[in-house]
Amino acid sequence: MYTSIKFSSIAVLMIMMLRESSGQQKPRHIVFIVADDLGWNDVGFHNPDIISPNIDKLARQGVILNSSYVQPVCTPSRHSFMSGVYPFKAGLQHGTISPGQPVCSPLSMQFFPEKLQKLGYSTHMIGKWHLGFCNLECTPTRRGFDSFLGFYSGMEDYYNKTRNNGIDFNDGIKAIPADNRYSTYIYAERAKQIIINHNETKPLFLYLPFQSVHAPIEVPKRFEDMYQHIVNDNRRKFSGMVSAMDEAIGNVTQALTDNGLIEDTLFIFTSDNSGWPIRGGNNYPLRGGKITIFEGGTRAASFVSGSGIEKNGSTYEGLIHAVDWHPTILSAAGSYVDNIDDSIDGLDQWNAISTGAKSARNEFVYNLDDSIDPTTGHAAIRVGDFKLISGYPGPYQGWYKPEQELKGASAGFNSTWSGDGLYNLKDDPTEHHDLSKEHPDVVINLKAKLDEYRKAYVKPNDPKNDDKADPKYHGGHWMPGWC
Ligand SMILES: *[C@@H]1O[C@H](CO)[C@@H](O)[C@H](O)[C@H]1NC(C)=O
Ligand SMILES: *[C@@H]1O[C@H](CO)[C@@H](O)[C@H](O)[C@H]1NC(C)=O
Ligand SMILES: *[C@@H]1O[C@H](CO)[C@@H](O)[C@H](O)[C@H]1NC(C)=O
Ligand SMILES: *[C@@H]1O[C@H](CO)[C@@H](O)[C@H](O)[C@H]1NC(C)=O
Ligand SMILES: *[C@@H]1O[C@H](CO)[C@@H](O)[C@H](O)[C@H]1NC(C)=O
Ligand SMILES: *[C@@H]1O[C@H](CO)[C@@H](O)[C@H](O)[C@H]1NC(C)=O
Repeated sequence: MYTSIKFSSIAVLMIMMLRESSGQQKPRHIVFIVADDLGWNDVGFHNPDIISPNIDKLARQGVILNSSYVQPVCTPSRHSFMSGVYPFKAGLQHGTISPGQPVCSPLSMQFFPEKLQKLGYSTHMIGKWHLGFCNLECTPTRRGFDSFLGFYSGMEDYYNKTRNNGIDFNDGIKAIPADNRYSTYIYAERAKQIIINHNETKPLFLYLPFQSVHAPIEVPKRFEDMYQHIVNDNRRKFSGMVSAMDEAIGNVTQALTDNGLIEDTLFIFTSDNSGWPIRGGNNYPLRGGKITIFEGGTRAASFVSGSGIEKNGSTYEGLIHAVDWHPTILSAAGSYVDNIDDSIDGLDQWNAISTGAKSARNEFVYNLDDSIDPTTGHAAIRVGDFKLISGYPGPYQGWYKPEQELKGASAGFNSTWSGDGLYNLKDDPTEHHDLSKEHPDVVINLKAKLDEYRKAYVKPNDPKNDDKADPKYHGGHWMPGWC
């Protein structure tokens, strides 16, 4: 039902003719950087205590996206980026895909890099996938990437590349040895190699979903040492992880400069969800954290910078949602086809973010998960300035300061929440004042909107782990081929 309009060669030909007749320059290179579990308060351009000069420079030369939203956990956000379709329509709204689960982001939903390939792009991915890998067809090089270096699952050791009892480290479809170096170095080097080897006759698309800065909290000492004044152990190391990623991004931009590509490159930067209060991340002054549908879980540190960005040096307040990156990147790549693709939820925001025009979006769904489970946030919707949280918002419900780390897996869990929360985010971006009693009419309207979306609801596809996935059957690796 949600398969995208297939790119026919006629469509591609039409785009090329359009380009020629409008005298449009050759298609730009695009670098799409996704930081893992990076909080709102974990970048220098929001928090002067974090040392991230390369990220900050790109952000300040570009447009900081101040209202750019993602899902509260990894898999649903990555699914949204790639497919442009809300996770609640794909059965992926409930949580993340664990390495033993026989499930992947639905193959019926075409990922945008596949469309970029058809537009003539070289497409490369380096880092974390987390969209399922049980079948070869689910993996990056079968879903739009010419090359892939990285891992399939949601987390692993940064050095030995091990998750539970198996190594998860791959080059294309080939499982490779762990290479016991810190992944951030390896990924920056691979990006540099791709840039050096890039054939200029093609535009380049580089997807860089870093392992950084997700748990486990591990970082080479020289980065931790940049924060000797931070007393909390996890927060000090975590801050170092951000600086390591920042250096990697600096190395990538340097390689683009050295190879003459930088002038034609558009950078897009976002986190996949916000910081995890029990793992060093921080979203202050926003409320909540990863896994919750408060702003602290869903409002991303994000910017666009470089080629095509006309209002450089500004902040953009318009609403952007994770599902928008699919059509927006295609639009930035010169494809107009998705403007008529109503099989996806994403809206083309290229005109908005490149020229500072009004956002194409006035509402979005934070999540829609009707299963009863106190570990995930259920339902929330934004329309204009108002946000309705309907039912349990998720485990972390407080306002946590940077060194105020929660300890233990269930710290911060609070199941006493009942009913609704209504917030005016324009006046109250930190969600201190529940207006649901004051504005029952607004609650009723927003609930009706949520019910409209519910018509397309697909139940969470959350199967039990399959023993066939066990690395002991696959030479000690997590590998496809068991579903
Ligand atoms: C914005 O771009 C123009 C043209 O490239 C440049 O002269 C200007 O310095 C840039 N502004 C910022 C804040 O980077
Ligand atoms: C990988 O590193 C972790 C520490 O993060 C350790 O617990 C685990 O035993 C190591 N695994 C292997 C196979 O070396
Ligand atoms: C960045 O590049 C420099 C110079 O090659 C290298 O020494 C450093 O380790 C790299 N840093 C990262 C995080 O990749
Ligand atoms: C770059 O691609 C063009 C067109 O496919 C090809 O003719 C050329 O040989 C390539 N250059 C290199 C250095 O591979
Ligand atoms: C749990 O949430 C309720 C309602 O938001 C709040 O009143 C209470 O203080 C919270 N309890 C803890 C332990 O955070
Ligand atoms: C970003 O949004 C917040 C409200 O959430 C606002 O206080 C702040 O001024 C905005 N930043 C800029 C630079 O406009």
